[in-house]
Amino acid sequence: MIPPATITLALTGASGMPYGIRLLECLLQAKIRVYLLVSQAAQVVAKQEMDLQLPTRKGELETLFGGRFAAQPGQLSVFGREEWFAPVASGSNPADAMVVCPCTMGTLAAIAAGLADNLIERAADVMLKEGRTLILVPRETPLSAVHLENMLKLARLGIVILPPNPGFYNRPAQVADLIDFVVARVLDQLAIPHKLMPRWGDKDDLS
Ligand SMILES: Cc1cc2nc3c(=O)[nH]c(=O)nc-3n(C[C@H](O)[C@H](O)[C@H](O)COP(=O)(O)O)c2cc1C
Repeated sequence: MIPPATITLALTGASGMPYGIRLLECLLQAKIRVYLLVSQAAQVVAKQEMDLQLPTRKGELETLFGGRFAAQPGQLSVFGREEWFAPVASGSNPADAMVVCPCTMGTLAAIAAGLADNLIERAADVMLKEGRTLILVPRETPLSAVHLENMLKLARLGIVILPPNPGFYNRPAQVADLIDFVVARVLDQLAIPHKLMPRWGDKDDLS
């Protein structure tokens, strides 16, 4: 599989915002063009979990993340909730792949139902109809039968359901290790090379 050149990354308002932000950093470091979509609830969660006050203006968001993660000019584009003229809104110009990380049960349900009331849902709907890679990192516990049915429906349609369940067999020493475990699994699904953690059976260090 060839790594995607362009990825849509949607941050929604589930717990686990550090996964999404770390993923954004890794995608930009990997020189991938990123279309970033941020739900209103994601802004609340970013503040709560990371003390990260995300600006509502897209230009300011591009400057914030572009500066923090040293993006190339034009590498990061942010689109608003109802920006229907964004490339991701149409099957004629979608990204090569899309990740929703973290993904709420609400957004997951909307995708499963084929809703397209905001740009995140529409972009996911486009990926589905165009048969492109779509990865969801859903977070909730415990999971109800509704959540499980929605996930099963989406998995059967070829969507990757990748819960943020870090393993402990690498002996994580800090929270950053747990975050990288999950982000590494997402990057693997996208065929993006990384050295976030050793691979199973590979005991050498990564230097
Ligand atoms: C701090 C915080 C944590 C939340 N954690 C979750 C969660 O883990 N999973 C979930 O499905 N919703 C969670 N929610 C609720 C969603 O944010 C809420 O359902 C919201 O409407 C989702 O909108 P969105 O899918 O457009 O982001 C959380 C909300 C807050 C404020």
